Amino acid sequence: MFSARVPGVGSNRVARVLAAQRSKGRPLDDLTMSNPTQVGLSYPSGLLQSLADPAGLRYEPAPFGLPAAREAVGAYLATRGVSVSPDRVVLTASTSEAYALLFKLLCDPADVVLVPQPSYPLFEHLTRLDGVVASPYQLEYHGRWELSLDSVRRAVEPRARAVLLVNPNNPTGSFVRPAELEAVREIAVRHELALISDEVFDLYPFDDVATGSLGALVGESEALTFTLGGLSKSALLPQLKLGWILVGGPEPLVRRALDRLEFISDTYLSVATPVQCALPALLAGTRPLAAQVRDRVRSNIAKLRRLVSQFPACQVLHAEAGWYAVVQVSAVRSEEALVVELIEKDGVLTHPGYFFDFPREAFLVVSLLPEPEPFETAMTRVLARASG
Ligand SMILES: Cc1ncc(COP(=O)(O)O)c(C=O)c1O
Repeated sequence: MFSARVPGVGSNRVARVLAAQRSKGRPLDDLTMSNPTQVGLSYPSGLLQSLADPAGLRYEPAPFGLPAAREAVGAYLATRGVSVSPDRVVLTASTSEAYALLFKLLCDPADVVLVPQPSYPLFEHLTRLDGVVASPYQLEYHGRWELSLDSVRRAVEPRARAVLLVNPNNPTGSFVRPAELEAVREIAVRHELALISDEVFDLYPFDDVATGSLGALVGESEALTFTLGGLSKSALLPQLKLGWILVGGPEPLVRRALDRLEFISDTYLSVATPVQCALPALLAGTRPLAAQVRDRVRSNIAKLRRLVSQFPACQVLHAEAGWYAVVQVSAVRSEEALVVELIEKDGVLTHPGYFFDFPREAFLVVSLLPEPEPFETAMTRVLARASG
């Protein structure tokens, strides 16, 4: 009766242990917390007043979003050094929805998209729900994460339609370096593949050094490109449900892509009018908030690096940006056994590396968003347990 796009729904051991712990009412320090609205940030008062703008009472269906909202995205990106014409900005309800629209645009059922590994686990679901096959290429760790171009070349096949880049990547915190981007771009041009660059974490570098590859595909002249962002990370407002796709490439190809994308977006019209009307105010009003998060993740990663130096069995992998840290731990027990012990004995929740398809064990992934004190005390318990 049901489609094979949705996998059999069951729970894994970590989820069961977690549910049991919660049902006993035991407190848990959540080092997987990636919801910015629940980590003690001070949102500016009155921030959401712009949602009550009477302009939101009028419904004017616009497949790519209201012109003023698309202009607001262009103006916001200009302040970040990215130049994009509003007529190449497509609004969506989220980055996740952006992927779904792009898979519909580019892929027939069973077509292939190349995805980085390790990376964001939702790709497995997003591709599957659109009948698309995710074929991995590797990010390899050699003291820092590097994109394996050989693995990209190996993954290219006749049914391949696009290469996904996550820049900076979740959870490895690695940027796509300009030389890597150029090499992938050449592969894409040669094999007529589109490039999708997910840059949702662009505001959160650990240092002030720019990488040079952010926003680089927006002005692309040969390959068809789609650069993704949204309020969820840029404005720390995931609940407002607004993301964007910036379409790049040679004009005739962009026109053909936009015509088809318009058909898809027009079918759903999924972005609410009030959030579009409020967009300029939201993007301006949340700037200090993004700075708060940048300070928070920078201070937590620095603290984590200091803490780990006291635990020789553990190592923080080199990372450059984002909201996560990857800690390599002793592989004497499996990641799953360690994560379960941490929940049951230490009251701390972490992600096992396998959740993100790390090539081997044992790694833990932790969020850098929690407030500094609980982060430090929970992390100390994690490192002590992982060293024991
Ligand atoms: C790499 C990456 N892309 C996209 C998203 C989802 O963003 P949105 O809330 O806009 O769907 C996430 C969420 O964590 C993410 O890690």
